[in-house]
Amino acid sequence: MKLYTYEELKEFVDHCTHCPLSQTRNRAVMGRGSLNSPILFIAEGPGRNEDRDGIPFTGRSGEVFDRLLTGIGMKREDIYITNIVKCHPPGNRDPFPAEQEACMPYLKYETLLLRPKIIVCLGRIAAQRIIRPDYRIMREHGTFLFRKNVWLTSCYHPSAILRDPSKFSETQNDFHTIYHKLQEYSVAEDCTE
Ligand code: URA
Repeated sequence: MKLYTYEELKEFVDHCTHCPLSQTRNRAVMGRGSLNSPILFIAEGPGRNEDRDGIPFTGRSGEVFDRLLTGIGMKREDIYITNIVKCHPPGNRDPFPAEQEACMPYLKYETLLLRPKIIVCLGRIAAQRIIRPDYRIMREHGTFLFRKNVWLTSCYHPSAILRDPSKFSETQNDFHTIYHKLQEYSVAEDCTE
């Protein structure tokens, strides 16, 4: 199978018309970051700022996300972040299941290019799409499961933290757990080299 490059995939995403979100978007928002990163963050869908800029997490949610990353000594360049749907759902509504379905091939391709060791779902929509349809984010965030050679976990979406700042410290704890999982993985890699 031919594997498209990141740039080719971005071209497809930029010009995609596979679902009605393409008719209302300003710019499609391809994921960004390091393609060598062992960690993939998946959120829900671009907000208004991202729709304007064509870059994921540039708005206030992005500031929260950056604070969480800084807390574990990481920057955007150390990770890769993307969304379930690449186009802004009008009025910031949840993306419909058919819209998520239409966009899945792009996410699958990003995952193929990246080959992450850890996938972190940011929020309920991503966790229910990637981990399990009946996933309960309030109860299960910060827990890990191992599937097809990848660790899967979730934490609150940064916009949920903006609505309820008391969720920040819980999410900080989840980020520390993620950081330790990354360390375990790096140690295991070093030992097998
Ligand atoms: N919210 C998301 O789910 N994704 C973004 O890129 C920005 C805000």
